Formats: sequence, C-alpha cells, structure tokens
Amino acid sequence: MIHTNSSNLNNSFDRKTPPTIIVIFGASGDLTARKLVPAIFNLSKDKLLPKRCFLIGYGRSEMSDGAFVDDIKNALDKYSRRKIEDSTWNSMKNNLIFHAGAYDDLNSFVELEKKIINIEEKIECNAQCLFYISTPPGVFMPILENLGKSGLARRHRGTETASKVIIEKPFGRDLNSAQELNQVINRRFDESQVFRIDHYLGKETVQSLLVQRFANSIFEPVWNRNYVSSVQITVSEDLGVGTRGGYYDKSGALRDMIQNHVMQLLALTAMEPPSSLDPESIRDEKVKALKAIKPLVLDGDSPDVIRASYSAGLVDGTPAKAYLDEEGIPEDSVTETYSALRLYLDNWRWKGVPFYLRSGKRLAMKASEIVVQFTRPPAILFGQDSRLKVSPNLLVIRIQPDEGVTLYLNSKTPGLETKLQPIRLAFGYETTFGSNTPEAYERLILDALNGDGTLFIRGDEAETSWGLLTPVLDFWNNQKSEGLASYPSGTWGPLEADKLLIDGGHEWITGKKYD
Ligand code: BG6
Repeated sequence: MIHTNSSNLNNSFDRKTPPTIIVIFGASGDLTARKLVPAIFNLSKDKLLPKRCFLIGYGRSEMSDGAFVDDIKNALDKYSRRKIEDSTWNSMKNNLIFHAGAYDDLNSFVELEKKIINIEEKIECNAQCLFYISTPPGVFMPILENLGKSGLARRHRGTETASKVIIEKPFGRDLNSAQELNQVINRRFDESQVFRIDHYLGKETVQSLLVQRFANSIFEPVWNRNYVSSVQITVSEDLGVGTRGGYYDKSGALRDMIQNHVMQLLALTAMEPPSSLDPESIRDEKVKALKAIKPLVLDGDSPDVIRASYSAGLVDGTPAKAYLDEEGIPEDSVTETYSALRLYLDNWRWKGVPFYLRSGKRLAMKASEIVVQFTRPPAILFGQDSRLKVSPNLLVIRIQPDEGVTLYLNSKTPGLETKLQPIRLAFGYETTFGSNTPEAYERLILDALNGDGTLFIRGDEAETSWGLLTPVLDFWNNQKSEGLASYPSGTWGPLEADKLLIDGGHEWITGKKYD
C-alpha cells in the first residue's frame, strides 16, 4: 500500500469526503453488477463513504427506482466479497435512483442535472458528482461531450465538490483514438478531475510493488543492468473469451491486456524512484520509463513481437474449443488471443536488459507474475562443472492468485557430496495477512472520491503506451493471417514465443516453476 501525504486508503480514514452523488453510466452492464456495486457497498460497510452518498444508475432502458434497487440487491447477493448486513443496506437503499436516458441526447443530461439538484436541495448543501463511465467505448465521446455541454462537468469547479469522472478501459484503440479522447476530455475537464482506470493498479500486490522496491534497501542497488539479466512479466488466463467474443474479436490480447495492465506492471518495475509519493511524481516517472522503450522490431528473422490464437485443447482435463469456434467469432478472424514482446529500455538503468512480456487466454493457468532474473555468479567456485550447476537468482513477485513474493537462492543439498539446488524464501500474503483483501475497485473508487490520481493512468501515459504499440497493430493489420501462430488451449502459448527468449539465453519462468 502506498502511503502519501495527499492520498489514499489509510489517509482516507481521516479525510472528510464531501456529500457525494455517484452516477454510473452503463448501470445495467455486467461490470456494474459484478464490480462497481459490490465495491461501493463494501466501502459503505467499512464506513469509508461520506455519510450522505447517493447512487444514480444511468441506463438506456426505462426502469423504476424500485426495480433498480432490486437489481442492486441481487448484484450484492451474487457478487459481494462479504455479506452486506441490513444496517449498511438500509442506510443506502433509499439513496438509489435510476435515470433513463440516451448517451447522445443532451436533454437526458439536463434531466439528470435536475435529479442532482433535487438531491442537493434535500440535503441542503452542495454535493460532488463522480461520473463513472462504464459503457462500451463507442459512447465514451458523446457522454463526455454531453457532460461538458450540460455544465455537469463544470459543477462547483474550484471547490471541494468539483465533479470528477472515471473512465473505464479501453482508453482508445490506438494512438489516434486515444489522442482524440484526450482532446475531448481536456476540453471539458481539468486533468485533476479525470481518473482513467486500470484495475490492475488497484490490486494490493501491484501497489505493494513500489513498497518492495523503495522501502527495502537491499533491492535498489541491484535493480539495474549490472545485476539483472532479464525481467519477465506474464499475465496469463486459463479462461477463453467466453461470451465476450463480440468485444474481444475487435480487441485482441495486445489491446485488451498488454497496452494497459502489462505496460503498467512494466512501468512500475522499471521506473526510477520518484522524488516524492505524490501522484504526479509517480506518474512522471512511469511516463519516463515508458518513453525510454525502444521502438519494436516487427519484421525479419527475429521480430520482437509474437501473436497467436488458441486452437482446441484440454484445460484442466476438460476439452476446450478453438478460438475460431467460440461464440461470436467470425470464421476468418485473425485476432490474437496471445501476444508476447521483447523490449529494451534505452536508459542508464536498463540498457541491454531484455524485458519479456506475455499475455494470453486459454493458457495453462491463471497467473500474473513479475520475474526479475539476476545475473549468474562467475563460474569460479561453483558452476564450472555440471554437478555444481548454479541457477540464477530469481525474484518472483506474484500479483495473483496466491499473492506473494519468492526469492530463489542456491543452496547446498545435505550430504557428503557438494551439490547445489535452488531453494525458495517465500512470503505469502494470505498466510501473513489473512485473506480479506479489498477488491481493486474499492480502492480505486475511494481514491477517485478523494481526488487521488496515483493509481490512475494519466493522459500522456496512455498515449505513450499506444505510441509504442500502434505500429505493431498497424503491421499486423497489413499482415492479416501471415505470422499468426497457434497454440493448443491449456498450454503456455506458441513455440515462437519461446524463441523470443532463446537469443538472450533465457526461458519463460512462470509455468516452469509451477507445472
Ligand atoms: C480485463 C480484460 O481488463 O482484465 C479481460 O478486458 C481480462 O479480458 C481481465 O479477463 C483480467 O482481469 P483479472 O483481474 O481477472 O486478472
């Protein structure tokens, strides 16, 4: 957990958040039911919401307030990590309102403002509005424009009840569209009002990464090209695209996972120590790290980027369909469900150290992991013959599941003969701290309510990441199916991705250790 002067979870306890109206666009969507509603009620249960907190669900189909209340109750029963007891429910249920309106109709926003004013009149003071855009990306622009045109974006600007907006991913689908979105946002909002979400940043272990790096003096001296031989980041899923085929086929692994979640993990691993823990210092350093990445080699004998899609296979002993046979996927689809990259940062700390990134669906297991592989010690005492094999030290940071950190060291096996074997020094979150960790969305909604942008993506950060990856997307677009590899469901991806590492004398670690 990052503790800053201006921000976050701990400090939120003593912060006085003004009366708040949370407006969710896309109120009948899956994300609202699965994540947003449970997060809001768990915050309420922990008394982290302002006493006067209202939730307006904004959706396109007509619905009574009563039906909306029933939907919220069902979502809580189904998805909340903890039971919401009657006292929390009763204190919020009368503050739930539904507003039916179109996203591209200014009048619907004018009507929304009337409801907001009604609430303010009832509580006899101003309230901050937190607009949460949780809709398909096609309507982000009209919503942002109408928030601007209706004046909702400017409500109480310059005061503690200024409006805020949370924007879900995907933040654009390439550099141009991300820039266009940023232009609309900048026209209508101050950057300080804007919270671009990447739910990976809300994960406890991701926040803990900065603490591990900068609150322990043993890592910083070796966290560079002199001692690190490679860094690997794996975000693998065993699930396929399920019922999201329509969305996923227009996206693919690079857009869906690498551009945001994986690049965020990379930025936090590679960044320089910030001068302070305020949001802008941290985000400045992340942007610098991303800007240091060299353009990727796309063609030739040893390209830096691999893409593949899953064929039929066995996942945990159960037969799984090929991607092309999933619901909603066109038979001539060339969308990648797996992508791996090798990249280099052209800066003092990391020059020459390969960073290997991969993410995919229908892989052998769900695992998000950062592996820092250190250089081998010189083969002088040990390592000069095969019986005395010295393995490189590894620091494995497990983001999920089984959150924890493991350091692999070499040790002598017991016995008269000298033999070496890697051993693990392991720390598990659950064993040490218990299992009741807040969900990422709880943390992120709370921070946005308090105006803390540390764990959100700044506009230039999104554009830098797209700037690196858009040439890859354009290249693939021209190549069509050429170069699209395949891997059986339930495996660790295509062989081509192993070759990415072989030149550097490396191999993927995640999976090997846990198979
Ligand atoms: C989402 C992607 O951003 O992250 C999904 O759109 C993916 O395709 C999900 O399944 C993974 O999130 P988590 O938290 O389960 O690792």
